[in-house]
Amino acid sequence: MVATVVQETPTLFSPYKMGKFDLSHRVVLAPLTRCRALNEIPMEAHALYYSQRATPGGLLISEGTSISNTSAGYPNVPGIYTEQQVEAWKKVVDAVHAKGSVFFCQLWHVGRASHHVFQPNGGSPISSTNKPISDRWQVNLPDGSLAKHSNPRALETFEIPQVVEHYRQSALNAIRAGFDGVEIHAAHGYLIDQFLKDGINDRVDEYGGSIANRCKFLLQVVEAVVAAVGADRVSVRISPAIDHLDAVDSNPLGLGFAVVERLNKLQQSLGSKLAYLHVTQPRFTASGKRDLGNEEEEIKFLKNLRKAYEGTFMASGGYTRELGLKAVAEDEADLVSYGRLFISNPDLVSRLKHNAPLNKYNRQTFYTSDPVVGYTDYPFLNQGNNDKRE
Ligand SMILES: Cc1cc2nc3c(=O)[nH]c(=O)nc-3n(C[C@H](O)[C@H](O)[C@H](O)COP(=O)(O)O)c2cc1C
Repeated sequence: MVATVVQETPTLFSPYKMGKFDLSHRVVLAPLTRCRALNEIPMEAHALYYSQRATPGGLLISEGTSISNTSAGYPNVPGIYTEQQVEAWKKVVDAVHAKGSVFFCQLWHVGRASHHVFQPNGGSPISSTNKPISDRWQVNLPDGSLAKHSNPRALETFEIPQVVEHYRQSALNAIRAGFDGVEIHAAHGYLIDQFLKDGINDRVDEYGGSIANRCKFLLQVVEAVVAAVGADRVSVRISPAIDHLDAVDSNPLGLGFAVVERLNKLQQSLGSKLAYLHVTQPRFTASGKRDLGNEEEEIKFLKNLRKAYEGTFMASGGYTRELGLKAVAEDEADLVSYGRLFISNPDLVSRLKHNAPLNKYNRQTFYTSDPVVGYTDYPFLNQGNNDKRE
């Protein structure tokens, strides 16, 4: 007699084996910059904020975390490049682990999306290019005002290995702080995306021109980080079709395929998979606009990359409960990361699971420095609902 195994369609709340990590559900905390780390050091408030959002077997991704003293482009962004920062992160990671979650650290360099006030000695931010970000975008300064981004300085070819080294060292630091893995931020118009996109990268050296050359910096970073901490602890985030901070490409799908193809090849040569590939939906822009492309095109774009990538695929951007359930049920993604809804709903996993009402988020406190207001004071379901939308 042959036993029939009934394969149930997975839902957002089904377990998932992400390499060596056994996740109990697929609702992931997206990386979210919250500007609460005074002097670039995570604080007690961070431990509370992340542990509020932790669930047994859940996956949390930290806010973008600076890999060097030239990386920041927002006030009070935590770093992972000094001993003091590593020590401070340990307490945050411990609080998350105590709740049973897996915790990845997002490694971030903003490149030209900075301002000279954030740079050592007021220098120019580094990038793939000397071209500044257009006036369409503004940078938040430490005094609360908004300004135009400073003119960047294109990295000399010989300087690039040093930046790769900062990613490598930061990954090691993150693991030392207790993080389970790292996410390399190659999305949303920041440094690595400034190399990937042909609308920004105007280099004439081996890091510019052809798509292979534009992918080179990302690949060198991934290879260095993988060699340092192991493939199964490394993930990559990309957003080929997102124009945030002028990060446009003439062929977003071609660029997405090029990255995926190289990651697949790397995985084959290592005989080991990365933890996941995280792709942000084209419809997201930081300003909250949803008018890029249409729903059908967006889903097709994501599905194409999902089909091409040989590993765990995480989708992000504008997911509601229904869209998340649909994405997993229809195999558009293995995991779905939630950003804004997780800001205002510390118990988002439980609320989604029980189809409970959601707190509305207050955009005004996304990037303020108060360690409580708009950070750790959003109520849990049993504390009643909060109605503080913008
Ligand atoms: C306040 C805020 C901060 C963010 N910070 C980061 C970040 O540090 N790194 C990153 O990769 N994405 C960042 N994002 C993008 C989110 O990870 C996510 O992709 C985006 O919010 C779309 O998902 P959502 O519609 O569920 O909010 C940020 C978004 C918001 C709203």
